[in-house]
Amino acid sequence: MILLGSSEEKRGKTMNDYEQFIANIKRKTGIDLSQYKEAQMKRRLTSLYEKKGCQSFAEYFHLLNEDMNLLNEFLDRMTINVSEFYRNPGRWKVLEKRILPRLLASNKKLKVWSAGCSTGEEPYTVAMMLSRYIPLTGLSILATDLDENALQKAKRGVYSERSVAEVPTLERQRFFTKEGEFYTVNEKLKRTIIFKKLDLLAEPFDTNVDLIICRNVMIYFTEEAKDTLYQKFNAALKPGGVLFVGSTEQIFNPKQYGFETEDTFFYRKIEQ
Ligand SMILES: C[S@@+](CC[C@H](N)C(=O)[O-])C[C@H]1O[C@@H](n2cnc3c(N)ncnc32)[C@H](O)[C@@H]1O
Repeated sequence: MILLGSSEEKRGKTMNDYEQFIANIKRKTGIDLSQYKEAQMKRRLTSLYEKKGCQSFAEYFHLLNEDMNLLNEFLDRMTINVSEFYRNPGRWKVLEKRILPRLLASNKKLKVWSAGCSTGEEPYTVAMMLSRYIPLTGLSILATDLDENALQKAKRGVYSERSVAEVPTLERQRFFTKEGEFYTVNEKLKRTIIFKKLDLLAEPFDTNVDLIICRNVMIYFTEEAKDTLYQKFNAALKPGGVLFVGSTEQIFNPKQYGFETEDTFFYRKIEQ
């Protein structure tokens, strides 16, 4: 164990240790931890490695490097997967009553992307909502996430009774099959969604998208990473297309990124 003196030395040591860890993780997994808010990420990972009996990120990386299960556990912890159907229902109402009718007025086949879809609740929610306007056969939704375990769960589409509590009864009957305590999404709804692994901080995006839903993902990113992401989202959208963000993720200067506010937490790409 390395004994450190003053708090400055301690901070300095931790920084270097963490920076080295960031570089190692990037090399091993392609994930760039430097684009996530540092204090938050460090706190989460420190409590994780201390539980494993490690005293530094270097020791922790050594363990991760040798044990796939620990690496998976690390990925699981760094990617917080909490999600819900109809998360913040008031916002989904705005999407249903205000945004979708406008988008559908000029185009009956929307290109929708759930970016950071976690375990699938969000893309299934938008699929159910769109089915109120257009037939399921006309729907195609892209749902992406960094975390393969979350994507596997999303593809299985099996949820507890508690997680489907916010799904309206009629939709629960129409789109889910109940088996014991669990609800499974029907094949016809699953078929409307393509699940794919994609790192928002490292990979190129699709184009000509009508609606991007990226909620409760950007809160974990640094200001620089968010800046780049807003620009990439803007480039991915059609003129008039919409970015729907989470209820703590307001963009304070949308014009800077080519957006105007259509409603709280909804940003429309400015038509040139
Ligand atoms: C809290 S969940 C949000 C789920 C859903 N959007 C919602 O609001 O309910 C955050 C998700 O972002 C994903 N994520 C984190 N970093 C990412 C990245 N660089 N690229 C893509 N997805 C990422 C995580 O894996 C996690 O599933």
